[in-house]
Amino acid sequence: MYKTHACGELRADHIGQMVTLAGWVNRRRDHGGVTFIDLRDRSGIVQVVANPLDSPEAHRELVDARMEWVLKLRGEVHRRPEGMENPKLPTGEIEIEVKEVVVLNSAKTPPFLINKEEEVEEQTRLRFRYLDLRRQRLLTNLVLRHRVVKFIRDYLDKQGFLEVETPILFKTTPEGARDYLVPSRLYPGEFYALPQSPQQLKQLLMVAGIERYFQIARCFRDEDQRGDRQPEFTQLDLEMSFVEREDIMQITEDLFTQLVRGVVPHKRLLASPWPRLTYEEALSRFGKDNPDLRFGMELVDISDLAIDCGFKVFENAVASNGQVRGLNANGLGNYTRKQIEELAEYTANFGAKGLAYLAVTPQGEERSSFAKFIKPETLNIIKARFKIEPGDLLLFVADKPAVVFEALGRLRSLLGDRLGLKDKDILAFCWVIDFPFVVWNQDENRWDPSHHLFTAPMPADIPLLESQPEKARGQQYDMVLNDNEVGGGSIRIHDRSLQEKVFKLIGLEPEVARQRFGHMLEAFEYGTPPHGGIAPGIDRICMILADESNIREVIAFPKNQAARDVMAEAPSPVDPTQLNELHLNVKD
Ligand code: AMO
Ligand code: AMP
Repeated sequence: MYKTHACGELRADHIGQMVTLAGWVNRRRDHGGVTFIDLRDRSGIVQVVANPLDSPEAHRELVDARMEWVLKLRGEVHRRPEGMENPKLPTGEIEIEVKEVVVLNSAKTPPFLINKEEEVEEQTRLRFRYLDLRRQRLLTNLVLRHRVVKFIRDYLDKQGFLEVETPILFKTTPEGARDYLVPSRLYPGEFYALPQSPQQLKQLLMVAGIERYFQIARCFRDEDQRGDRQPEFTQLDLEMSFVEREDIMQITEDLFTQLVRGVVPHKRLLASPWPRLTYEEALSRFGKDNPDLRFGMELVDISDLAIDCGFKVFENAVASNGQVRGLNANGLGNYTRKQIEELAEYTANFGAKGLAYLAVTPQGEERSSFAKFIKPETLNIIKARFKIEPGDLLLFVADKPAVVFEALGRLRSLLGDRLGLKDKDILAFCWVIDFPFVVWNQDENRWDPSHHLFTAPMPADIPLLESQPEKARGQQYDMVLNDNEVGGGSIRIHDRSLQEKVFKLIGLEPEVARQRFGHMLEAFEYGTPPHGGIAPGIDRICMILADESNIREVIAFPKNQAARDVMAEAPSPVDPTQLNELHLNVKD
């Protein structure tokens, strides 16, 4: 037998017992001829003592043992001598007096210390991921992730949901990214596509009469990597029949509200029920459709004051259908011109052509890049609108609405970080609803679905699809948590003719639509119930619950920022015979 107990479970209650333990050498030190080892397994750490006088053979083995060697040992649980207890360790009251040691395996010196939470370059961590996973940080994250998924499964099971697996080798299921394709050996020139989500399959499960489905589903999207994106990631995919928007939002809200209480009780929900914002409201108040509600600093519209205000930048913006909005970075009134210039450079990344400012130092001294141009009475109204006080820094962007929102939305988020306004112990969930049904795709010169092409428009807005599609709203809802979009869903189209109308609107030729989605259109003719669903992103949610700022920290074996697995070296070239079997030639 390798183990009678786990290292981390031993307590004063075990004193006097003989135990067998197995694990890794976390640390070794010698003190006056006596050797101490911290033995580690997944459950924790226990101190092991080898005294050369009592058990010379075991002592000899332990003297040789090095970091990360794998040992099995037998010994007796003792109370630590008075004054030697370690209150920081759950096993800190006791130690194991070792009688017998078996070296199960030796280990090379690891490329970084396992027993210390020191910064290690990420490429090294990823290259030796199995060692990184031995460290406390990632282990804690994996445990959290397990609890999250377990909670979800138990909750949905009680609510009558059926967990169903859907294929990975399937057909293109577009969610706005590129597909990963898998060449077929049996059918030359034909490919499976990995699902960007199980969207079509879960809808087909509704046609199949499952009524309440969920899956902890792996999704694949070939898109540019960011801190909150991975080429493959996991969703809680969920779909229900005979529901309206309200039903899906309610059940999701209840699930995650209870999950927070059960899994991360040390965190606090900012508001319950979760606030709901329309898309328009989210943009106009926060500049983003995934607003962080943990702090204020809302955008203020001064477009109405810009006409003939005397400051050409503002005047010109509104004259060409633009807007002028600003925010108050309260507390940064003493920023230097250089520091403000840096903020302007940041907003320039998002298209802003400048960042006008009005600063009041804590002593009350005013500085501004535009006060000298603007009519004094207008300036006074602006100040009043922001309720300006000493220490305030007002920052303005004048441009097309999309640029104003993006620049100020990003700036607000940056300033929220700088001013320490993003309390990690607060979970600010909210819903964003009433999205536009379609968005204009400038590059392709066509309407794109704002969610995906199976989303239903608001019933009242169906007539607008032909006349003014930009005015139509979709039955879509996004779930937002702190700074992130963590879930999206919608009520679906369940009627073939409406689905065809939408295909037409987004420029899908009937023949192409039939090739790609013929199975969906056909299914819709066999008694499809009204249905809808949602897909919260498990990785993103776990990232936030774990106080991590990168999704890779909550994934056991993630890809790096360049979408590579640097441990196994994937992607990698393959054998020419394999390519041949797949009927593929690689272009050079
Ligand atoms: P959507 O595309 O909005 O909806 O995705 C839902 C959620 O999945 C997460 N997510 C990601 N997480 C990590 N890496 C990625 N590359 C990534 N892409 C998306 C986000 C996002 O909010 N089928 C629809 C859902 C539905 O309509 O029911 C869908 O996939 O948290
Ligand atoms: P200028 O007249 O170019 O010196 O600009 C005066 C001030 O207006 C500077 O602080 C610029 O950063 C700012 N500014 C210029 N263009 C814009 C714009 N589109 N939105 C907001 N501020 C601007």
